[in-house]
Amino acid sequence: MTQRVFITGGASGLGRALALCYAKQGAKVCIGDINPEQGAQVEQEINAAGGTGLFLSCDVRRLGDLEAIRDRLLADWGGVDVVVNNAGVASAGSIEDTTMTDWEWILDINVMGVVRGCKAFTPVFKQQKSGSFVNIASMAGLMLAPLMSSYNVSKAGVIALSETLSQELRDFGIHVACVCPAFFQTNLTNSMRSDIPGIQGNVNKLMKRSEITADDVAQDIARAVEKKDFWVLPHAKERRMWVVKRHVPWAFDWLMHQESKRWMKKMGGAA
Ligand SMILES: NC(=O)c1ccc[n+]([C@@H]2O[C@H](COP(=O)([O-])OP(=O)(O)OC[C@H]3O[C@@H](n4cnc5c(N)ncnc54)[C@H](O)[C@@H]3O)[C@@H](O)[C@H]2O)c1
Repeated sequence: MTQRVFITGGASGLGRALALCYAKQGAKVCIGDINPEQGAQVEQEINAAGGTGLFLSCDVRRLGDLEAIRDRLLADWGGVDVVVNNAGVASAGSIEDTTMTDWEWILDINVMGVVRGCKAFTPVFKQQKSGSFVNIASMAGLMLAPLMSSYNVSKAGVIALSETLSQELRDFGIHVACVCPAFFQTNLTNSMRSDIPGIQGNVNKLMKRSEITADDVAQDIARAVEKKDFWVLPHAKERRMWVVKRHVPWAFDWLMHQESKRWMKKMGGAA
């Protein structure tokens, strides 16, 4: 059966890669984004790749936008199979220097945006007795490195929400996946807020160095939806670190502290 997929933040990076991954399978793919120019372009790319594309303007800070898209897709498609809560932004900074405005901004998009996506589409999934939520968190939400508290908290929030909903919705036939990649190359630093000099450049270097691409992450996600897996952890090294954290927490703490000292020295936040 033709898959019907909705992706927030689908105009760029991982959202776009996932849209094209599903398009190649012949899916109907709706992308919701605040960037209409890039959105319209990705809509065409979806059609060219063999899918049926639809761009709809959507700001995940507004529940009404997500509800309107839900109603439109119900009317046009008769249902939705996969909702990817992907739209996200990044920030970095010390606890003293990160402003309350930036805390509220990132939590509103990264956490509440995912809450709104799940809230708007759960009634549809319950009625269908099927559907997958794919929530894009990050390894940052599991590793909790310094000078990134607002981003870490936002992604830990997505992980907590996903684990909760996986239990709450499973017996209604609803699957939840939680995606925790480490760095891979996208345009995420374009929207990054930070007052650490040179941080964008440093993060871009880490993204460029990654052996994992947005297409690889997208393929892992599509596989996880098919197999109804919960965790999607595309990066092998960080996956191993997470195993160490759970099984040998004191060793993880020591390793993380060594890494943290190097990182803070580089970023100018060392004690
Ligand atoms: N790139 C990485 O290294 C990395 C690692 C881990 C997790 N992630 C997560 O992956 C997700 C996708 O980010 P990306 O790396 O592809 O970045 P990106 O900047 O390339 O794409 C993000 C998209 O979200 C859209 N967006 C931003 N605010 C929005 C809003 N309020 N409403 C709707 N759309 C909005 C942007 O316009 C953009 O199209 C994010 O949740 C990010 O935190 C990225």
